[in-house]
Amino acid sequence: MGASPRRVGLLTAGGDCPGLNAVIRALTKSLIFDHGIEVIGIMDGFKGLVENAARELTMDDVSGILTLGGTILGTTNRENPFKYPVSKGREIVFKDRSRDVLETVERLRLDMLITIGGDGTQAISNQLVQKGLRVIGVPKTIDNDLHGTDLTFGHDTAVAVAAEAIDRIHTTAMSHHRVMVVETMGRYSGWIALRAGIAAGGDILLLPEIPYHMDAICREVHQRSEKGRRSSIVVVAEGAKPKGGEVTARRTVADASDPLRLGGVGERVALEIEKTTNVEARATILGHIQRGGTPTPFDRILATRYGVEAAVIAARGESGKMVALHGDEIVSVPLESVACGPRLVPESSTLIKTARSIGSSFGDK
Ligand code: F6P
Repeated sequence: MGASPRRVGLLTAGGDCPGLNAVIRALTKSLIFDHGIEVIGIMDGFKGLVENAARELTMDDVSGILTLGGTILGTTNRENPFKYPVSKGREIVFKDRSRDVLETVERLRLDMLITIGGDGTQAISNQLVQKGLRVIGVPKTIDNDLHGTDLTFGHDTAVAVAAEAIDRIHTTAMSHHRVMVVETMGRYSGWIALRAGIAAGGDILLLPEIPYHMDAICREVHQRSEKGRRSSIVVVAEGAKPKGGEVTARRTVADASDPLRLGGVGERVALEIEKTTNVEARATILGHIQRGGTPTPFDRILATRYGVEAAVIAARGESGKMVALHGDEIVSVPLESVACGPRLVPESSTLIKTARSIGSSFGDK
């Protein structure tokens, strides 16, 4: 544990997420009010640290932002300081610009950084700790795929948005006797699809963690028709893939350290269902709608609790930690234990068991 910091730099990195502003507000208020610590907002994630773009955050700056989507600081999911994209002619090459981060921290007289982000951000935070910086992490992502915490903020909102969309899609499914396929985000994890699927009564749930068989999906649709269920709802996570097959990618982003952008598996599944069963099938991709807009009350509370606790451990001079939710307790865990790839839905998940018990299929048998 080091000395209590006098000036703290705050940044948001990775994809935007409902609740980012709620964390910024809680952190800024608590750091200034409770601990007398100055707060410097770093613009556009780690890019602002590399390129020295920052401004002071005051109480006025964070007033009225609790319910606001996005982040007042800006963000990017491309500029990793250890693998920084630089144009070389028409090509993108990657450079280690972590020295620039150290220089910015020195220039801005920051005693500590607080990084609000998902697994990529927390892995970078951990690397910065190895470089001698003091860093505290706050767990963000709609995907809920971060190790060390039961929940990330933003996930509850994404599930609520996806569930509401599926509720609305039921109308067309029932009226037109169609199979409606709804594709959620989540990268390589199925948390959003699983929770939204249960909440909105999905009949077939396809998760990255449980590779699907097209035969099993079509058999399920057929059996439902035989029982007089003339419509079916399929909820598919963007990272879902057929057994022995690959994920469906929408595009690659050359200057990102994780270049693959998933998307399109819903269309693929809908086409195959229609071809095999002769039941009309349509696909809807929910996309960034799940990341936009105002956070749910649950996420506002979680984000506020995370912000206040991060301020407490920062003021104690701790470093190399991420705040986390364990049960109903806000705790902190070592950053190094978090930076180990995505947290997937475990095979033994009680949510999977619950869904199977009420007859939802995972397209696997
Ligand atoms: O990690 C959040 C997330 O929304 C994922 O669910 C999704 O795969 C990805 O980001 C999309 O990234 P982008 O906004 O760069 O398309």
